[in-house]
Amino acid sequence: MRLVVIFLTLVPLFSIAQGIEIIPKPAQVEIKSGFFNYSKGLGIKMDEADEESTFIMKQLATSLFGNKHFKTPVSQNEKKIVLQLLAANADSVTDEGYRIGVSPDSVLIQAHTHRGLSYGCQSVAQLFINSSLTNQIPSAEINDHPQYKWRGMELDVCRHFFPKEVIKQYIDLLAELKMNVFHWHLTDDQGWRIEIKKYPKLTEVGAWRTEKDGTKYGGFYTQEDIKEIVTYANERYVAIVPEIELPGHSSAAIAAYPELSCNANEPKTIPITWGIKPDIYCPSDFTFQFLHDVLDEVYELFPGKYIHLGGDEAPKKAWKKSYVAQALIKQEHLKNEEELQHYFLRKVEDYLATKNKTVIGWGEIVKGGLSDSVIVMSWLSKHAGVKAAEHGNRVIMTPRLFCYFDYPQKITDKRGAWYMTNLSVRKVYHFNPLPKSLREEKQRLILGGQANVWTEHIATEKQLLHQIMPRLTAMSEALWSNPALKDYEDFKERLSNSSFFSQQQ
Ligand code: ACM
Repeated sequence: MRLVVIFLTLVPLFSIAQGIEIIPKPAQVEIKSGFFNYSKGLGIKMDEADEESTFIMKQLATSLFGNKHFKTPVSQNEKKIVLQLLAANADSVTDEGYRIGVSPDSVLIQAHTHRGLSYGCQSVAQLFINSSLTNQIPSAEINDHPQYKWRGMELDVCRHFFPKEVIKQYIDLLAELKMNVFHWHLTDDQGWRIEIKKYPKLTEVGAWRTEKDGTKYGGFYTQEDIKEIVTYANERYVAIVPEIELPGHSSAAIAAYPELSCNANEPKTIPITWGIKPDIYCPSDFTFQFLHDVLDEVYELFPGKYIHLGGDEAPKKAWKKSYVAQALIKQEHLKNEEELQHYFLRKVEDYLATKNKTVIGWGEIVKGGLSDSVIVMSWLSKHAGVKAAEHGNRVIMTPRLFCYFDYPQKITDKRGAWYMTNLSVRKVYHFNPLPKSLREEKQRLILGGQANVWTEHIATEKQLLHQIMPRLTAMSEALWSNPALKDYEDFKERLSNSSFFSQQQ
């Protein structure tokens, strides 16, 4: 009896060791008898491939045959991976879902959408590359779909700038892990990073700061760069959400156009220190016209549904002292500066609604009143998100203690700033976007979660990779996989056998 129990508990472990090594863990895996043996070569095919499927197929071929650990020859006459796009299906689970059937004769990937097909290919690439067996993978049936629809990752390119090649690598990693949103933090106090044709000084002045030693530091993306990256991300099923911060974190824009400040006559420079800065956009006609003009160019460049408008860490001292701000409070019968911030955001949100864009804002926006359509990104904790969901708003959870990848991941890592607590891979793995206190009928409003990477203390590509790997693998599993199947030891085992493991620095 005891032997039987031991045998039964060993079977699933053995199955994993046999070679189903996918991150994020699929919803259902059933190991079958037999193996798909490809020692004589491997090909990829699809009947009636359209342009989009052809691209997906090529991506899979590059992932497999371009991987230095994968030595199998390409052979269209031998065993095949077969892609199949099924008829469209209205079910939202199958929108991102896919099925893989591995039999001794073939590996069949099926999905109802190109996105699902692409996710199936990501899983198949991992099946082959991570397999501990020589030239074979076990027969199996895999059915998979995500737990959450928002699986995001942010990057701050303002505190430190990262060239477009790095952004593409970042998007590649997201795609490999079935993350579907890249939140691009493009404007902040220490740098404005997106070319706006109507306001050239934003990048001529706002993209360059003078460091202590007198050197210039900076950079920006031209509109051509942005179009190239948007296309690149789109081909990999990653939506880009641009963030144009307001009303705070705006010193770089103010240095370029001082009229944006309530104290236009005071000298303006781009800060070279971190932290919260007091000079914020003045709620003047000039500022609103500026924001409309900027966003006119932004929404043309980013075809996605969402634009992030920031809203965090905006000190109100400048508004308290400003004639313009106080006159607006009176005119609009607002109670205080928090309500003025809501009015400010709302005005821009209403403008973007006419362009079919939905606005996202950081948790602080719950303070002065919430419009029904704004999506709240809860970062200090889950608290603002709970408040927003109770109000009926959609929410993305990114509580800093679980989701801030600029925080050190090991005790031995250098701490960037005093407020950064340790965030281990294990802790990220156990992140659950659903707040316990939220009533069941409101839980559907939690769209998912996101990891954020602020770059005050991340100046190089190498450091950036060190901060995100392997924590991104744990985040992808927290957002994609079924929480009922959580098992950290099993995750660690899959991670250490995966190609992601070698990417940690
Ligand atoms: C934030 O970390 N200030 C959103």
